[in-house]
Amino acid sequence: MQKKWWHGKVAYQVYPKSFLDTTGNGIGDLRGIISKLDYLKELGVDIIWLSPCYQSPLADQGYDISDYYQIDPRFGTMNDMDELIAQARKRNLSILMDLVVNHCSDEHEWFQKALQDPYGPYSKYFYFEKGINGQPPNNWRSYFGGSVWEPVSGTDLYYLHLFHKKQPDLNWENSSLREEIYKMMRWWMDKGLAGFRIDAIINIKKALPFSDYSYPPDRDDGLASIDNMLRDAVGVGEFLGEMRDKVFQKYDAFTVGEVFNAKEEELPDFIGDNGYFSTMFDFRAAVWGGSEKGWYASRHITPEIYKSCCFLSQKQMENVGYLSNIIENHDEPRGVSRYIPAEDLCETSKKLLAAVSFMLRGLPWIYQGQEIGMENLSFISIDEFDDVSTLDEYRVAKNHGFNDADALRAVAFYSRDNARTPFQWDDSPNAGFTTGTPWLRVNPNYTEINVKAQQNDKTSLFSFYKELITLRKNPDYAETILYGRLEPFMEKEENLMAFYRYGQNQTLLVLANFQKAPRTLTLPKAYKSVLLNNYKHVTIDSDACVTLDYYQVVILELA
Ligand code: GLC
Repeated sequence: MQKKWWHGKVAYQVYPKSFLDTTGNGIGDLRGIISKLDYLKELGVDIIWLSPCYQSPLADQGYDISDYYQIDPRFGTMNDMDELIAQARKRNLSILMDLVVNHCSDEHEWFQKALQDPYGPYSKYFYFEKGINGQPPNNWRSYFGGSVWEPVSGTDLYYLHLFHKKQPDLNWENSSLREEIYKMMRWWMDKGLAGFRIDAIINIKKALPFSDYSYPPDRDDGLASIDNMLRDAVGVGEFLGEMRDKVFQKYDAFTVGEVFNAKEEELPDFIGDNGYFSTMFDFRAAVWGGSEKGWYASRHITPEIYKSCCFLSQKQMENVGYLSNIIENHDEPRGVSRYIPAEDLCETSKKLLAAVSFMLRGLPWIYQGQEIGMENLSFISIDEFDDVSTLDEYRVAKNHGFNDADALRAVAFYSRDNARTPFQWDDSPNAGFTTGTPWLRVNPNYTEINVKAQQNDKTSLFSFYKELITLRKNPDYAETILYGRLEPFMEKEENLMAFYRYGQNQTLLVLANFQKAPRTLTLPKAYKSVLLNNYKHVTIDSDACVTLDYYQVVILELA
C-alpha cells in the first residue's frame, strides 16, 4: 500500500447546525466554527469534514441542496466560508465539504426547470418516468418511507427520489449532468478544500429499467427495499472512476466515501491504491444492528458483537486499503450510548471505547461531542424529533402494532437526532451553544458533560482523547499504530477486546476489559512499558499476570 500524507492524521466531523450559534437564531453557523478552530487544534485534529452548509430548504438538514454554489444564509455567507478555509489553512487544518450528488433539492433550479418542461433537457437531469395504469413505475421503497416515486403534477410522469420527496435523484447516466457536477466540484477544490466526504454515493447507479421486485414484500406496505436494487445495480465504478480521473486526481484530493452495500470483490477498486476514494467509513457494527423491518426490530450490539465486527473489518481490509474508523456520526445514535451497556456508562467505559476504536488500523474520526462523551438524549415525546427518518420509523413501528410509548422507545434509541443535539460547550444556559432558542433540545446532562468542565482536567475524557492523538503522532510508535498488522489476542475471551499491533520493530498490545467485573490474564510475553491507561495504575506481577479493573484499558509495548 502506498503511504499517504493523511494516514497519520486525525479527522473530525462538524455538524454545523448544532456546533455553535453566534447569531442567536438557534442554529449553528460558520463563524461559530471559525471561533472554535483553536479548540479543534488543541484537541489535535487535522482534517475537518463539514456536514452540508450549502443553500438548502433543510428538509433533510442540508442534504437537500438547492444551490451548490451558495452558503445557506442560516449558516453564514460565502465570505465566512472563504475565511473558514483560510483560517483553517493558517492552522494547518484541512477542510472537507460534504459532496451530496446522488440527489439535490426539489427547489434546485435544475429541478424547477425540469418541472416547467417535463420532456425538456433538464428533465433528463433526473428520472422522470411514466406511471403504469395510474400507479408509480415500480414498487421500490424510499429510505425515508413510502414509494420512491412522486407524481409530476399535470402529467402522467413520476420523478424518482430514493430519499425524501424533496430530494429528487440526479440522473448519472446523463453525461451533461455529470459534467455539471465535476465543474462544481472543481470550483470548490479551487477554493482550497482538501477534498470531500462523499454522501450516499453507492446509490448513483440504478438498476435499470425500473422494474418491480417481486420477492415477498418485506413489509406490510407492499413495497420492496432499495437493497434489492443496489444488489442488482452494476457499474457504479464507471462513474466513480470518471469522477476520480476528472476531479480528484488533479487535486490529489482526500476523499472519504459513505459506502454501504459495496460488493466485497469491488473493495480494492474503491479504496485500493488508485481507488475511487482515499478511504471509506467502516459501518459494519451499525449495519449488523440494523433490520430490514425497521428500527423497532434492530438488534442490540453487545461488546462481543462490537469486537467481532471490528476484527472482521480489519481482516477484510488488511490487504485492501485504509479504513476510516468511527463510533458515531450525524446519522447514528451516540456511540457511547450504543456500544456501552447503559448501566455501565461512565467516563471510564467511554475511555475504553475511545482507545479501542483509535487503536484499530485506519484513520480515526471523532464526531463532534464524542471527545467529551456526549450521550443519547432521553426523548419524551415524538414531537421533539426533527429528523425525517425518525418520524418515518415511528410510523413503521406503529403500523407494526406498537403503541405510542413503545414506538417512541423503539425510535428514541436509534434516532439520528441523538447525535444532532447542540454541542455542549459549558454549563451556562443552552450549554453555551446559543443565546436564542436551540433548534433541537439540549441534552440536560450538559451541566456535567461539557468542554469547560473537561478542558483543563487531566483525567477527563477530553484529555484522554488528546493522549490518544499524541500517542498516534509520537514518532516512536506512529509506524506501528498507523500500519502495523492487527491480530486479535484471546479473541474467544468474552468481553475482552484485545489485539496486537505488530510494527516492524515493536509489538503493541491493547487490552480492554469491556465489562464491570475485573479480570486477570497472563501476558503473552513480558512488557516493556505502559503507553496508555485509563486508570492511574495497572497491576502486572512478576509472572506477567495482569489484572484489569472495571472497564480498564491499557496499551502496552511488549518486550
Ligand atoms: C447520507 C447522509 C444522511 C442523509 C442521506 C441523504 O446518508 O449522511 O444524513 O440523510 O445521505 O442525503
